[in-house]
Amino acid sequence: MPTSVSAHVLREPQGTFELVDGIELGDPQPGEVLVRFTSTGLCHTDLFARDVFHQPDFPPAIYGHEGTGVVEGVGPGVTDFAEGDRVMASFASCGGCRTCLTGRPFNCEQFNDINFALARDDGSFKATLEGDPVGSSFFGQSSFGSHGLVAARDLTKVPDWVTPEDEHLLGPLGCGVQTGAGAVLNVLRPGPLDSIVVSGTGAVGLSALMAAAASNVSTIIAVDIVEERLALARELGATHTVNGNDEDQVEQIQEATGGGASHAFDTTGVAPVLARLVDALAWGGRLGIVGAAPGMTLDLLPVMQLGRQVQGIVEGNSVPRVFIPQLLELRRSGRFPLEKLVRTYPFAELETAISDTTSGKTVKAVLVH
Ligand SMILES: NC(=O)c1ccc[n+]([C@@H]2O[C@H](COP(=O)([O-])OP(=O)(O)OC[C@H]3O[C@@H](n4cnc5c(N)ncnc54)[C@H](O)[C@@H]3O)[C@@H](O)[C@H]2O)c1
Ligand SMILES: [Zn+2]
Ligand SMILES: [Zn+2]
Repeated sequence: MPTSVSAHVLREPQGTFELVDGIELGDPQPGEVLVRFTSTGLCHTDLFARDVFHQPDFPPAIYGHEGTGVVEGVGPGVTDFAEGDRVMASFASCGGCRTCLTGRPFNCEQFNDINFALARDDGSFKATLEGDPVGSSFFGQSSFGSHGLVAARDLTKVPDWVTPEDEHLLGPLGCGVQTGAGAVLNVLRPGPLDSIVVSGTGAVGLSALMAAAASNVSTIIAVDIVEERLALARELGATHTVNGNDEDQVEQIQEATGGGASHAFDTTGVAPVLARLVDALAWGGRLGIVGAAPGMTLDLLPVMQLGRQVQGIVEGNSVPRVFIPQLLELRRSGRFPLEKLVRTYPFAELETAISDTTSGKTVKAVLVH
């Protein structure tokens, strides 16, 4: 029996999300789980979907990819989830390609095809409105709705000890938070004798910064153009802050690090910012990048000449079922105060959440049902 769903729907590129009732979500197919979302985070990538990914000839689409909720049904072959389980959804991976099979679902060879998607891999749509298809497979979940159909392999069970009061913090772990924290803990791995520049202190950057503080990195430099965010960065462990409009940013970083940073992490995707970060690296220093913007180019000469490294990072190189529970443990120990990034909004107020995020007022907006 189809489930009647209400969801924020985008009908045109750069449009406004419209809350629509009466969308019909089909029954879970083999390997899928019907999830009633209790909350969803808003990630910058949802705005990329609205502004860049969504095309004029697309059907109306539901975006959102930081959903958490409760299992309401399972499709054929699903044995590891049952009705009533609390779950967190993360990015989709195919499970069958070489990188998935070697334990790196974040580098799934089909990552872009199955995450930036409206329909299932076989072309079928999970949802319809008055008989017409509705895009409902974004990151395998489309969490800007009351319910979604999510592949079991992309779900993580919520640990029993997580209280209902904290459930609204869980969704962002599935994308923005694991991306930033994983970039530091899984990829760059700076230690107590190292330094790191975190460029852009939105949800991803601040998650990286908290992970660097939890790793006892001695010099943590936050760079942003929004002063309130730099203040929050200091509260979360930044030892230095630099305004991204300053002319002498590279000199400030060199001074704070005694000649150059051992690590840098960029979340802005802005080409001149990337070039400055490379200049601010020490010999052999390493830059991780997660942001994406059109025209994102980088001169490799100063990379090669000083033996530096630049690495693209997807989803923090996280295996969600392993890494998300670890981050929750880190928060439980008091060393990952995720709640300081989050502001909640009633589910209906997606557009308010977007404008507060865009203006810099809110770091991580979470819509709560
Ligand atoms: N690679 C991945 O797997 C992955 C996953 C999640 C998000 N992302 C991407 O990561 C990026 C960051 O996401 P977010 O949710 O933290 O976004 P955000 O908009 O909250 O954060 C970006 C921050 O960069 C700052 N900024 C902008 N221009 C700047 C400049 N010139 N100098 C210094 N700071 C500047 C902004 O003020 C903001 O605080 C986005 O591009 C998003 O699409 C990538
Ligand atoms: Zn794969
Ligand atoms: Zn995201």
